Parts: sequence; C-alpha cells; structure tokens
Amino acid sequence: MYKITVIPGDGIGQEVMQPTIDILETLNSKFEFIPKEAGKECYQKYDTNLPEETIVQCRESDSTLFGAVTSIPQQKSAIVTLRKELDLYVNQRPIHSYTNPDIDFTIIRENSEGLYSHIEESTGDEAIAIRKITYKASERIINYAFNYALKTEKSKVTASHKANVLPVTDGIFKNTFYKVASNYPTIKSNDYYIDAMAMYLITNPAQFDIIVTTNLFGDILSDEGGGLVGTLGLIPSANIGDKTGLFEPVHGSAPDIAGLNKANPIAMILSSCLMLEYLGLYDDAKRIQNAVEETISESKVKTPDMGGHNNTQDVANNILHRL
Ligand code: NAI
Ligand code: MG
Repeated sequence: MYKITVIPGDGIGQEVMQPTIDILETLNSKFEFIPKEAGKECYQKYDTNLPEETIVQCRESDSTLFGAVTSIPQQKSAIVTLRKELDLYVNQRPIHSYTNPDIDFTIIRENSEGLYSHIEESTGDEAIAIRKITYKASERIINYAFNYALKTEKSKVTASHKANVLPVTDGIFKNTFYKVASNYPTIKSNDYYIDAMAMYLITNPAQFDIIVTTNLFGDILSDEGGGLVGTLGLIPSANIGDKTGLFEPVHGSAPDIAGLNKANPIAMILSSCLMLEYLGLYDDAKRIQNAVEETISESKVKTPDMGGHNNTQDVANNILHRL
C-alpha cells in the first residue's frame, strides 16, 4: 500500500484531480490517498497558501499528486516552496507528440536554485533578483540526466545555458556538463545557448533526446514544448528528490477555463503515470499510457484545447473504459 498525498489546489487543478484518482483506483487499491490543501483557496481559509501540515504529509508520503495552484502576490509560490522543502531537485518533463514523431524528448530542469531562489530586493529605484548556480546542484541534475539517458536507452544529452552573457554562473553549468559527460562515453553530448535552443526546438526538434538546463530556462522551454505538442493539457511532469516525488501537470490553474468542465485531464493523468514509474509500478504506468494513447488516436473524444467538443469527464471516462 503506497501513501499518496493529494493536493488538488485551485481552478482546473481540482477538476483534473478527481478523474485521475478514479483511474488510479482501478489498479486494485494499491494506494491510500490523503487529501491536503494548498493554493489560493487555502490561503483564503487559513491565511497561508501552504500549511505546515501539508508539507509534513508530503514528506511522510511515498509520493504526492499535485493539481495546480493560483499564484497570490502576498505569498511565496506554494509549489516552488514545496519543491524546496521536499528537496525535489529534478523536474522532468517529457514532451511527446501523438501526431508528429519528430517531437519526442525530455526536458530535465534543475529545480532547486537559479532564478527561483526567492531572493529579490528593491532599494526604491532599483530591484535585483539573485540567480544562484552551484557546482553541487549542477552536478546532481546533470548526472541525473545522463543516468536517465542510460536507463531509457537514449543516445544524446543536450545542455542549454547562456554562458556567453553569464560566464560565471552558466560557466559553472556548462563546465560541469562536459565534466560529467566524460563519465558517460556511450552517450553523445552537446550544448546550445538558450536562445538558439528555443529556435531549434521549433526548426529541428528531432535532434533532441534529453535536454538538461537551469531552472527558469527549463520552465520556459517546457511551455514551448506544450506549444509544439499543441496544448499544455498533454504535458505531465515529475519532481523528484532522493526521498520522495511530486507529480503535477505542467499547466497552471487556468482561470480562463476554470469551472467550465473543459480542462483536458490528460496532463494530470500522465503525471500519475510518471508517479507509477517512480514507484516501480511500470506495468500499471504502461497500461494507463496505452489507454490514453488509444483515446487520443482512436476516439473522437477530445477537450476543446485538442480541437474537440467533449468535457473533462468524457475524456476521463473514455480512458477509464479502456482499462
Ligand atoms: P495556465 O497553464 O494555467 O494556462 C495557460 C493557457 O493554457 C490557458 O489558456 C489555459 O486555458 C490553457 N490550459 C492550461 N491547462 C489546460 C488544460 N489542462 N486543458 C485545456 N487548456 C489548458 O497558465 P497561466 O494562465 O499563465 O496561469 C494561471 C495561474 O496558474 C496563475 O496564477 C499561475 O501563477 C498559476 N500557475 C501555476 C502552476 C502550478 O501550480 N504548478 C504552473 C503555472 C502557472
Ligand atoms: Mg511554467
């Protein structure tokens, strides 16, 4: 029995979570789900967007499923704080198109430092944000990327940075990349500046297997990945540390469609598959992934972001019936 903390959050986070739990419950009750709160609604109730109780429960669970939260200016981001509190230093985002075979790569984003250090100051006229890059965090994320390439039998890892303009901080990232790469002689390695990378993802995505990059660049590239695939509603993600994992769709709470039952549940459902893989339940993950793939390719049941006319529940039911 695995203990899973469930944080639906706000907006469509709540709407995509229940169908995902319904699907996981078909896997012969392998899970105990423990609901916890975070986000804007939570803040309105308890004056905090991330209660200590939620953090403690995540720490004590085998994994956490996280929907999405709406940001509030008065509070530090709940998800960024959770990643830090749980030391989830890997953010893994598979970008896979169901219609274009050239688009099939994984972004591995450093998840603990960079511009997400939450260090920002204003002196009145001037404001400064700190972008912290360390050897330690660079080395562990790059090692993870090469190990992941070995494990998934991918042939190439590409680093992305801006070492021309930021030679000190991104110099660390780039140099560490080639130092680590020399330990993996069977895997090809190369690097691109982030601006060129943003272009190559559009002009020649087939060249990429695994992309490893710093925090903000990874955030931006993964939404670009959502654009390549056509919708953020299909992109899952895994946040992984040495002790636990947190699995969430790349998208946010989507206030523009919240409450309309239009949200695509697939990103959340595929995030739960990444959780199953993390827990070693590979067959279960594959079963759900196959069902999702069939729904996408064999049925006309689609939410509006994929050009369809169906609602969240229709898509989830179609997947559920195939299991
Ligand atoms: P968003 O990802 O919520 O939405 C961007 C666009 O994609 C919207 O047009 C939305 O309707 C569409 N979209 C997103 N997910 C979809 C789905 N499953 N099905 C169909 N369409 C989908 O990003 P946005 O609008 O920039 O942010 C909204 C709120 O979410 C903000 O408060 C933001 O800070 C927060 N946010 C939270 C994240 C998290 O909890 N991890 C991640 C990103 C944003
Ligand atoms: Mg983002």
